[in-house]
Amino acid sequence: MMNSLKFIISLIFFVVIIIFPNKTISIKCFNHPDFFEFYKRNPINYEFIKKRSLKTKRTSFNNNNNNFQIEFTCGIDDKILCDKARKGFESAGQIITSTISFRNPVIVNASFYNFCKTDNQCSSSNDNNMVAGGANPTKTIALTDNDGIVRYYPQALVKQLPFERYPDFEPFDISAKFNSEVNYWFEGDKLPIKSDQTDFILIILHEFIHGLGFVSSWNDFFNFANPQGLTPVPSADNLNSGMSFNGFIENIFDKYLIFLPSGEYVSNVAAKINTIVNEKGKFYQTPENFITTFKSSSQYQQSEMMLKAATTSFSLGFLPNNTNNLSEAIILETTLNPFRTGSSLGHFDLKTYMNTSDFLMTYIQDPGMTLGDYMSISGNYTGGPIGPKLRQILGTMGYVIKDVYISPYTPSVSLNKFSTAATISSNIGFMIFIFTTIIIFNILI
Ligand SMILES: *[C@@H]1O[C@H](CO)[C@@H](O)[C@H](O)[C@H]1NC(C)=O
Ligand SMILES: *[C@@H]1O[C@H](CO)[C@@H](O)[C@H](O)[C@H]1NC(C)=O
Ligand SMILES: *[C@@H]1O[C@H](CO)[C@@H](O)[C@H](O)[C@H]1NC(C)=O
Ligand SMILES: *[C@@H]1O[C@H](CO)[C@@H](O)[C@H](O)[C@H]1NC(C)=O
Ligand SMILES: *[C@@H]1O[C@H](CO)[C@@H](O)[C@H](O)[C@H]1NC(C)=O
Repeated sequence: MMNSLKFIISLIFFVVIIIFPNKTISIKCFNHPDFFEFYKRNPINYEFIKKRSLKTKRTSFNNNNNNFQIEFTCGIDDKILCDKARKGFESAGQIITSTISFRNPVIVNASFYNFCKTDNQCSSSNDNNMVAGGANPTKTIALTDNDGIVRYYPQALVKQLPFERYPDFEPFDISAKFNSEVNYWFEGDKLPIKSDQTDFILIILHEFIHGLGFVSSWNDFFNFANPQGLTPVPSADNLNSGMSFNGFIENIFDKYLIFLPSGEYVSNVAAKINTIVNEKGKFYQTPENFITTFKSSSQYQQSEMMLKAATTSFSLGFLPNNTNNLSEAIILETTLNPFRTGSSLGHFDLKTYMNTSDFLMTYIQDPGMTLGDYMSISGNYTGGPIGPKLRQILGTMGYVIKDVYISPYTPSVSLNKFSTAATISSNIGFMIFIFTTIIIFNILI
């Protein structure tokens, strides 16, 4: 009992990233210094930044392809493997710079090392749960949107928005850590991919997109293991005499979520849940008091309804800002039941998009399939691995998408032929490993 309580509290502390600004132009940020000990957050000074202004003069875009910078650290002795990993990170970065025009460079702290030796993150004996790694924004910043609602933006995105002044940035925008113990296939390997290997670039690229902000905030922060209801990220302050609960904050990604088929914005549900602050006040003796109050409130029914939607096929979509035609909404992954933190919601619907040019952000990447294989079966989209719908999403969040894609390299199509159901079922363990990856890292946003 004591242990589970501690777990809940540390999760609350970790998710308590930002304090609601009193003024609409103030922001306050916290760093996530170490994502294995994410509750050790460091408050940093907040600054005022002006609202988005179209008339700002900006330093000219430089297109020298150095706008997605990878600072690579290799923690193992195998120089050849290190070199392959470094190249893989760089190629994934080049795919991104071929797709997005960055106003200010995005800088990635990329490392490749043995998780078991270095972080004591060891796989169980049957090897099914090896953590592959992942990428997350190193810092999220709360900004007031044009609809008056405060939402979290990843630092990489804040750098792209046309502000007159920027807040102090962390040296790195994205933190990416990958486990050298995983059986990866690397572009350029002499042998074709084997059925139990996963393409390194494919998984790096997927994780980089999460690092750029393709992440929903909706989770059960009070019970990750057995979700009962979903909310955006709870925000609270520690007070000497207890805690102050300041409301639940969505990510910028969540602003564009709609219910299908009605088209109602999910943000409206967040607003309804947040009425608890006015109704019950902000002050609580302990986090548990807050949780008890919340769970018995009428607002909690909205949370439960959200969980129901997030576990029912075709019930949530992302409506890009260049359309209000609901049939152009991008269907999100809501088929998993029970809800799976990190896999549900923050991905493209697997069945709808698995064989399309928008394969990249489905929650399963099959082993034995290279990035080139996925591109080939889905019709060789001229815009590259970042498909047309994913481009719309990134553009809606505020990234500037290039019109023309110039491929930095030609991804290999394997000689294996495309993996079939047989390969998949014989590699169930591997799929679990991919889930684990995504779970571990998305919780940390
Ligand atoms: C970059 O990542 C490495 C490896 O995880 C870590 O040791 C280092 O502190 C990080 N650097 C910064 C500035 O966060
Ligand atoms: C909405 O989008 C669908 C699918 O793209 C299309 O078939 C339909 O004609 C569009 N409807 C309108 C009113 O534009
Ligand atoms: C995708 O393609 C594979 C291989 O051709 C096929 O087995 C599978 O049924 C397809 N899935 C969908 C949802 O179309
Ligand atoms: C994509 O290109 C590859 C090789 O260039 C070709 O073998 C494959 O048939 C193409 N895929 C489709 C669906 O046209
Ligand atoms: C969509 O949003 C982006 C980012 O805010 C903006 O640059 C773009 O002009 C918007 N597009 C439309 C069609 O409103």
